Amino acid sequence: MTDTRIAFIGAGNMARSLIGGLIADGWNSASLSVSDPDNHQLAAIASRFQVHTDTDNQRVTENSDVVLLAVKPQVMRDVATGLAGVVQQHQPLVISVAAGIRATDMERWLGGKCALVRCMPNTPALVQSGATALFATQGVSAGRRDLAESILRAVGIALWVEDEDLMDAVTAVSGSGPAYFFLVMEVLEEAGQALGLPEKTARLLALQTAFGAAKMALESSDDAAQLRQRVTSPGGTTEKALAVLETGRLRALFHDALTAARDRSRELASQFGAD
Ligand SMILES: NC(=O)c1ccc[n+]([C@@H]2O[C@H](COP(=O)([O-])OP(=O)(O)OC[C@H]3O[C@@H](n4cnc5c(N)ncnc54)[C@H](OP(=O)(O)O)[C@@H]3O)[C@@H](O)[C@H]2O)c1
Repeated sequence: MTDTRIAFIGAGNMARSLIGGLIADGWNSASLSVSDPDNHQLAAIASRFQVHTDTDNQRVTENSDVVLLAVKPQVMRDVATGLAGVVQQHQPLVISVAAGIRATDMERWLGGKCALVRCMPNTPALVQSGATALFATQGVSAGRRDLAESILRAVGIALWVEDEDLMDAVTAVSGSGPAYFFLVMEVLEEAGQALGLPEKTARLLALQTAFGAAKMALESSDDAAQLRQRVTSPGGTTEKALAVLETGRLRALFHDALTAARDRSRELASQFGAD
């Protein structure tokens, strides 16, 4: 599998993260190609990873088993229609990491049915700690599903959803999710300073606490509610703080926030796929 030829279309952040992750996982850099209109981007990626580069999307696709589309959603229609002929002729596995582009729109732009996997990664993929949901169209074999999963696992965890509509919920939870946690860190830091802690101390305590809590939750067989209960002694400080958060409707606020994100994801998908 690590010799599978992969063409990355777009040499931006996501392509760089995936290539870095794949090479760290033992993939052969000689089997990875990247195309992008910007020669500076290509030179930077070639010198860092020793991958093949080209400015011609069709040429790199022609010579690959997998084409991984890592361009912005706004340019996806043009990029996909430009690749339709070569995709229909060579039938590579097509993986799209573009947020909010539906499989039906991708297949229409790519000239008809093809083996397509749509993914929703998130920004911690840039530090190999991403959470990606994948959805496969019917034309994707079990072997190709495994291949797509192993590529996305190079930048974190990868989970399948069997109903594409759930990608909007994924966007609300993990796609937009890093920002919710950044907000909580920001607020802890501000509140710590307001209670008299020096800026740097407040910041590091907030960040390490977020990291430690996530690590504990990931490594524990207990769920988050059980872990929370265990650190909340009756009559103690944590209980007092949590009571304030519950009175302030924190749970309801998060439900409303994620519903708003899910609805916006649906709207954007309709806009991107409108033509
Ligand atoms: N970054 C993330 O953490 C993240 C998370 C979830 C999903 N995604 C998805 O991943 C995709 C890529 O995001 P990104 O952050 O990597 O974006 P990015 O850094 O802007 O990279 C996109 C690259 O594609 C290039 N490009 C533009 N038009 C092209 C064309 N016609 N043919 C080939 N390449 C072209 C761009 O070149 P120019 O700069 O010259 O335009 C740029 O180098 C997006 O669809 C996004 O929704 C990213």
